[in-house]
Amino acid sequence: METNNSVSKLFILLSIGLLVNALLVHTLVSYDKKAILINGKRRILISGSIHYPRSTPQMWEDLIQKAKDGGLDVIDTYVFWNIHEPSPGNYNFEGRYDLVRFIKAVQKQGLYVHLRIGPYICAEWNFGGFPVWLKYVPGISFRTDNEPFKAAMRGFTQKIVEMMKRENLFESQGGPIILSQIENEYGPEGKVFGAAGEAYINWAASMAVELDTGVPWVMCKEEDAPDPVINTCNGFYCDGFAPNKPYKPTLWTEAWSGWFTEFGGPLNHRPVEDLAFAVARFIQKGGSFFNYYMYHGGTNFGRTAGGPFITTSYDYDAPIDEYGLIREPKYGHLTELHRAIKQCEQALVSSDPTITILGSSQQAYVFSTENGNCAAFLSNSDSKSAARVMFNNLHYDLPPWSMSILPDCRSVVFNTAIVGTQTSGNQMLPTNSELLSWETYDEDISSLEDNPTTTAVGLLEQINITRDSSDYLWYITSVDIGPSPSLLRGGQKPTLTVQSRGHALHVFINGQLSGSVYGTREAMRCRFTGPANLNAGMNRIALLSIAVGLPNNGIHFETWETGILGPVLLRGLDTGNRDLSWQKWTYKVGLKGEAMNLVSATGISSVEWVKGALFAQPQKPLTWYKAYFDVPNGDEPLALDMRSMGKGQVWINGESIGRYWTAYAAGSCGLCSYSGTYRPPKCQLGCGEPTQRWYHVPRSWLKPTQNLLVIFEEVGGDASKISLVRRITGKTI
Ligand code: GAL
Repeated sequence: METNNSVSKLFILLSIGLLVNALLVHTLVSYDKKAILINGKRRILISGSIHYPRSTPQMWEDLIQKAKDGGLDVIDTYVFWNIHEPSPGNYNFEGRYDLVRFIKAVQKQGLYVHLRIGPYICAEWNFGGFPVWLKYVPGISFRTDNEPFKAAMRGFTQKIVEMMKRENLFESQGGPIILSQIENEYGPEGKVFGAAGEAYINWAASMAVELDTGVPWVMCKEEDAPDPVINTCNGFYCDGFAPNKPYKPTLWTEAWSGWFTEFGGPLNHRPVEDLAFAVARFIQKGGSFFNYYMYHGGTNFGRTAGGPFITTSYDYDAPIDEYGLIREPKYGHLTELHRAIKQCEQALVSSDPTITILGSSQQAYVFSTENGNCAAFLSNSDSKSAARVMFNNLHYDLPPWSMSILPDCRSVVFNTAIVGTQTSGNQMLPTNSELLSWETYDEDISSLEDNPTTTAVGLLEQINITRDSSDYLWYITSVDIGPSPSLLRGGQKPTLTVQSRGHALHVFINGQLSGSVYGTREAMRCRFTGPANLNAGMNRIALLSIAVGLPNNGIHFETWETGILGPVLLRGLDTGNRDLSWQKWTYKVGLKGEAMNLVSATGISSVEWVKGALFAQPQKPLTWYKAYFDVPNGDEPLALDMRSMGKGQVWINGESIGRYWTAYAAGSCGLCSYSGTYRPPKCQLGCGEPTQRWYHVPRSWLKPTQNLLVIFEEVGGDASKISLVRRITGKTI
């Protein structure tokens, strides 16, 4: 009897144990038409994108904490294939690329994760996240029904899923990941690919589902997302969106909080009143998950920016600025919105709304449940006029283009157009740190031909040669114009024309810079035409072609070509015109300074640096600069003010801060004030100013003293005017 008793006690204990284990560990994420269900409970989920490689691990905890304080439930990130697999089978998950550490940091603060694996991600990231080697896999064709592509895509997706499973990171294993994304905005592309596109997206869905993560998969902007994958919306507004099946929830994976910037373009700003109204309308119409793209945009360090022409800053006008500081009133106003929405959560997830027309552009959506929950959303979609409406026998004043939220169907706790939060006015201030011991080194272009990467008859495509190991590729040729330059027709100098597919080009004739041309994101091609300073006899033409980030979107962007396309023509010679395109060209990948690793503490000692040249010749092209500085006092985020410089790259203690370019935003814009009559989804600021003047220097890259700053300047600038500044919030002045 005794034994029987203890056996049954043991059995009961074991069963309880198993049950607890099942509840705790094997929780389930599912969905129905209303919402995503976590542990069987429908949820209104508020999410924000923070991309781990766009900040440093030292910043992550603070960013996630700020997201949590801002009322977020979920952190969304893409997975960036090209940083993780720089060459086939060689993986890097260290430092900024430590995906598991990032997800665990989110988990530690009790938030969920939406993992957008892609592996195509767009994201203004170099090559849309694809490793450049992928382009050279024999027979490959990106994002279509192509076996080599599908094999590579499956390989990486599986690798990431297995890594997450090994660390128990899916919610089905007790981890924070509640959703995953496969592909990215394939819809418009798929239409162009026709049947192959359809076959591919069906394959992508089943490949993902078979990985058995225990959490739902989504596809954004893909109205043909096959079951059980949920199709979701991306955009400035998503209140008109409906999923492709009545049993799927309405999810908004990219609510654009602002917009990215490109060198030479304006700064984009989205007024928070408009963003809040867009979000509130989405919830009013039955949406149950929205994600701010971006909540913190961060920095495209190194050469990770795509585009081409995307700036190093990926600030995005997001609620948390590039430096990790709260941007007001965006952050605070959205926090209040989130609080109001959360007060309505029970009513929202348990009922369908009753819609009442209150006026020509005014509506009430009422969510009420049998057990007495009632939440109302009163909207005025007239962008010009305020309205006084009658709802449940009470008067309510609705500003233009706004929504009032009434979590008890009586009292307004929030209106999207009434901003109570003060503007923070984040700004740059000087530091006590000086840049000292400036020295320069001229990039040596006299012997480029000595150790060429290759030679060829004719002009070669750039990325084929560089494989993106450097932005730079030299195209060098010689031209013999005979005994005397006076033979030039009419005493006029001949003209050199160089046609490039992009993205930027510096033309050197006999070692002298003759001029530079630049494409734009919209028109990547650029053409140089200028007088050629030729000498009698042999002349050397050296063309420095520069890739400013590889394209991240477009149909078959892997086939887009970069570099000098030709023709390269000399016109007006005594002997007529000469087409140089089909003569012998020598190719050299990268700069000598890059090959010598001048950016590192060890590399700098390999050349003779010159003191004092800084002030003598400020406008010298192709110049390396170095200086030292001690870390400034305090703990504010830091930046370099590069306004006095031209175009190039910057490194600190061997870490690449990124590309800089003092390209000015053309025109005059600034129609950004939020008024009753003008509500752009984004508006433009900063015209007539450099698009990007400040470059983030993460504090964690610095040591107390003797930090090494190295700059490579392409066209010329005044390095003596560079300074280290600190970023402060208006509130802390
Ligand atoms: C979306 C895309 C994102 C990002 C965004 C613009 O269409 O899915 O990855 O590129 O546009 O910032």
